[in-house]
Amino acid sequence: MEQQERLRILAVAAADLVRDGMRVGLGTGSTADAVIRELGQRVGNGLNFTGVPTSKRTETLARSLGIPLTTLEEVQRLDLGIDGADQIDPSLDAIKGKGGALLHEKLVALACLDFVLVASTEKSVERLGVQTALPVEVVRFGWMQTAGRLSGLGLTPELRRSGAAPDGAFVTDNGGFILDCATGPITDARRLAEAVKAIPGVVEHGLFAGIANASLQVDPDGTVLNRVRPSDE
Ligand code: A5P
Repeated sequence: MEQQERLRILAVAAADLVRDGMRVGLGTGSTADAVIRELGQRVGNGLNFTGVPTSKRTETLARSLGIPLTTLEEVQRLDLGIDGADQIDPSLDAIKGKGGALLHEKLVALACLDFVLVASTEKSVERLGVQTALPVEVVRFGWMQTAGRLSGLGLTPELRRSGAAPDGAFVTDNGGFILDCATGPITDARRLAEAVKAIPGVVEHGLFAGIANASLQVDPDGTVLNRVRPSDE
């Protein structure tokens, strides 16, 4: 089945979670975009909810679809968050941030009563760290020293390029740089998360450990698989 059709099927399943009156965190990335488009259609058909976007890109898309938006300054708790992922392990720990929005994504996810990852089944891994690097947002000042400290943890950081900064670096909505850190298989996500977060200059990292309580994943045939975090079953 074509990827676009798979995303549409997944988006329908995710949008079914949104009910009238909810406050919903809107993720960033191609999968989240598909969900937002489906939600936009439903708003056109009378669905009444308010979204909190996790990036300027998502904000622009949601506004263009007529989805009413608010911010984390205006609402303390959200009913539901829906966001994509780069890798998902069996306990629903995830790596996020390939789109560079990990900081705002995490702040929104932590404000959600329910946080659901949406992805294709190809994003499933037995161990995080095996397929894609771990994105780490750092402040621009002294970023090379911060990269050196990340190397000291055994990671291999690389500055993300193809962005707006004069030297071609990618710049986040928050004004930071992203260091994509090759980790190898991660044996203890929480311990690595703590070690990375403790480094001066690190703003946030893309390890989402113990945050998602459910996932919807679409397989190559278009079947949507629903998983709940083991401790929540
Ligand atoms: C954005 O910063 C990311 O966390 C995305 O949610 C993640 O990279 C998944 O993106 P796709 O849905 O485009 O694969």
